[in-house]
Amino acid sequence: MKVIVTNSYDESCKVVAEMIRDVVNQKPACKLGLATGGTPVPIYKKLIEMNKAGEVDFSQVHTVNLDEYCGIPGTHDQSYRYFMDTNLFNHINIDKANTYVAQGMGDFEANARELEAKVREGGVADLQLLGIGNNGHIAFNEASDHLVAVAHIETLTESTITANARFFEKKEDVPTKAITMGMGDILAAKCVVLVATGLAKVPAIKGLIMDDVITTQNPSTMLKMHENAIVVIDKELANAVGYKG
Ligand code: F6R
Repeated sequence: MKVIVTNSYDESCKVVAEMIRDVVNQKPACKLGLATGGTPVPIYKKLIEMNKAGEVDFSQVHTVNLDEYCGIPGTHDQSYRYFMDTNLFNHINIDKANTYVAQGMGDFEANARELEAKVREGGVADLQLLGIGNNGHIAFNEASDHLVAVAHIETLTESTITANARFFEKKEDVPTKAITMGMGDILAAKCVVLVATGLAKVPAIKGLIMDDVITTQNPSTMLKMHENAIVVIDKELANAVGYKG
């Protein structure tokens, strides 16, 4: 695992947007694994600017998203399909038919199986983008005494529901279940890039970069087994966890 420490969150987002740009430029028909949440928003903004400036062409790119809430349709303004459309896809020259976000409505188990198939379809992701939950979750693989390898339905923890309540009118509106890629799906990507900022992430990032322990109680620690995992944090977070390089 490689750790990159930047001067600021803005610089982290620039560095990661450039990594994504370079993957697409090297392989125009590449496959990207994408994330939602607050962290990647400025990364997507930078990719939109790069696309408009002619620095990167998404016309042949395929994407698969990590997860989707159960029980809300893709038209709902808090669905991850809506998030991806409004924060990225509507503003770049990607063919929406080549973008996949799991369906949040209907038969959840069948939707999870469809996500699992999409993770492998046409090969695994060339780059998988990740955020990290305050409890160390990646995608919606929650801290627990066990983890699941393949796409599945996860019951969200109190910590995740509380953290995500900021996007909803009230906490009771946050869905309690989600469809998520499993740990094996994430680790299958050729390169995994995790971005984190903010002091709420200190315990999770400490477990990820300050020792060699792997534990299901901090799912992100599984990335220690990946040959090409990159963690991008700003110096404020690095200092707070005591990371010296
Ligand atoms: C989002 C996802 C989640 C988030 C995590 C951090 O698709 O899979 O694991 O990356 O909850 O969210 P933010 O970036 O809002 O702190």
